[in-house]
Amino acid sequence: MDGNGRWAAQRGLPRLSGHDRGTSNIRRITTAAAELGIEYLTLWAFSTDNWRRPQDEIDGILRILAEVIERELDELDRQGARLRHIGSLEGLAPDLQTAVRSAIERTKTNDRLTLTLAFNYSGRQELLAAIKSLVESGVSADAIDEATIQKHLFTHDLPDPDLIIRTSGECRISNFLLWQSAYSELFFTPTLWPDFGAEGLLEAVREFGRRERRFGGVPENSSGGPLGGG
Ligand code: IPE
Ligand code: MG
Repeated sequence: MDGNGRWAAQRGLPRLSGHDRGTSNIRRITTAAAELGIEYLTLWAFSTDNWRRPQDEIDGILRILAEVIERELDELDRQGARLRHIGSLEGLAPDLQTAVRSAIERTKTNDRLTLTLAFNYSGRQELLAAIKSLVESGVSADAIDEATIQKHLFTHDLPDPDLIIRTSGECRISNFLLWQSAYSELFFTPTLWPDFGAEGLLEAVREFGRRERRFGGVPENSSGGPLGGG
């Protein structure tokens, strides 16, 4: 979810108004995702690298996260959304940790949409945590395969993303789901996050439907072509 700051700057507003505004479309997106039959949706709200921002912006984002949970939880629960969190809750205020944990607990039997909030998340931190927990488990090098690594990731119970959407025109991964995105289709849109809605999601899903995914293989019904890679 990128572009909140620029959305605000374009209107001469403080950056925090952009972050505020960037929560008003969340319900529209989750509703549209569920209607499209999407079963897993991950929203990346805060990177471990975002701690570099000015303290008042960080405080504002943390406040907004608490407000969003408070404001949206009933409706998400009603929609059948199961909440998950990836990243680290350590370092967040105890009240906020409790709010996140209780939202997860309350919605754990819902099964229409798994809504994962990536907050205080980054892909390298996740891989680092996975490697540490692998070493601590005492597993021998020979016994490690891709499935073993998967089991130690924050996303151990989630499928790899089919499609990654980044708003605001930036064309990079920026430390998101590094392991899991190996074969994800990437969709970059110039739309700033607060302006991204159900139509944007539908456009991305339509584009996804036109992509040919080979996972390193060759096109179906083909004896091979000039294209390598995956
Ligand atoms: C995304 O908007 C929200 C967070 C990273 C918290 P930005 O704050 O990155 O907005 P820009 O990139 O400055 O426009
Ligand atoms: Mg940004």
